[in-house]
Amino acid sequence: MLEVNSIDVSYGHAKVLHDVSIRLNQGEMVFIVGRNGAGKTTLLRTIAGFMTPTGGDITFEGQPIAGMAAEKVARRGVRFVAQDKKVFSDLTVKGNLELAAHASGEPLERATERLLKIYPQFEKFLDNKAGGLSGGQREILLIGRALVGEPQCLLIDEPTEGLAAIVIEDIFRILNEMKEKVSGIIVEQNLSVVARLADRIYIMKEGKIEREVVNPAEISDAAELECYL
Ligand SMILES: Nc1ncnc2c1ncn2[C@@H]1O[C@H](COP(=O)(O)OP(=O)(O)O)[C@@H](O)[C@H]1O
Ligand SMILES: [Mg+2]
Repeated sequence: MLEVNSIDVSYGHAKVLHDVSIRLNQGEMVFIVGRNGAGKTTLLRTIAGFMTPTGGDITFEGQPIAGMAAEKVARRGVRFVAQDKKVFSDLTVKGNLELAAHASGEPLERATERLLKIYPQFEKFLDNKAGGLSGGQREILLIGRALVGEPQCLLIDEPTEGLAAIVIEDIFRILNEMKEKVSGIIVEQNLSVVARLADRIYIMKEGKIEREVVNPAEISDAAELECYL
């Protein structure tokens, strides 16, 4: 469904992605792991339309999307959840959803229902300002917001970063349930989450794909991946 073919990406004169190729098949949840600075975020941001590759191409459902504006990529059904867990703090939880509902033409009620389905605990926070949410709740709200309008593909950058173990399990459960309905490329450093969810894994190093793990079950323990982190 999504193909990244030999892309190069630079910040000014500094080239940070070199000849990167990855693919996402329908129904897959694919993970990207690698050290800080490896280029994981740059790769997701490029797919999402926030950066234009200087070489190579990206196709979604057979159509070229490289260099397309981020809003347009999102409307096509590829949604990006950034690493920074930034919500609209002054808006309520519902208000945050409403923006996405408005943009996608989905009724707010349906968007709210979906959010409560993935995380029933939000019921009592719906009218609270999003600025008061914990890091984990923000991430869940952002995932709920990305799911508005039922996109085909999610790109999620480090969903469990900085979260307590108990919330990481909530995020794990949400991603696991999501697998039924949406395909995804997820950048993740928590190898227990990766090992339990990944259909395939790409290991990035210094702006390149170092290795593709086609059958994560063959990785006997997380230690084998750890050397890349
Ligand atoms: N806005 C930016 N301007 C210049 N260089 C950047 C910028 N963002 C990231 N970089 C550089 O690009 C490389 C890849 O960064 P990034 O994609 O954030 O890696 P990761 O997400 O794997 O930690 C790093 O060397 C980083 O310093
Ligand atoms: Mg990053």
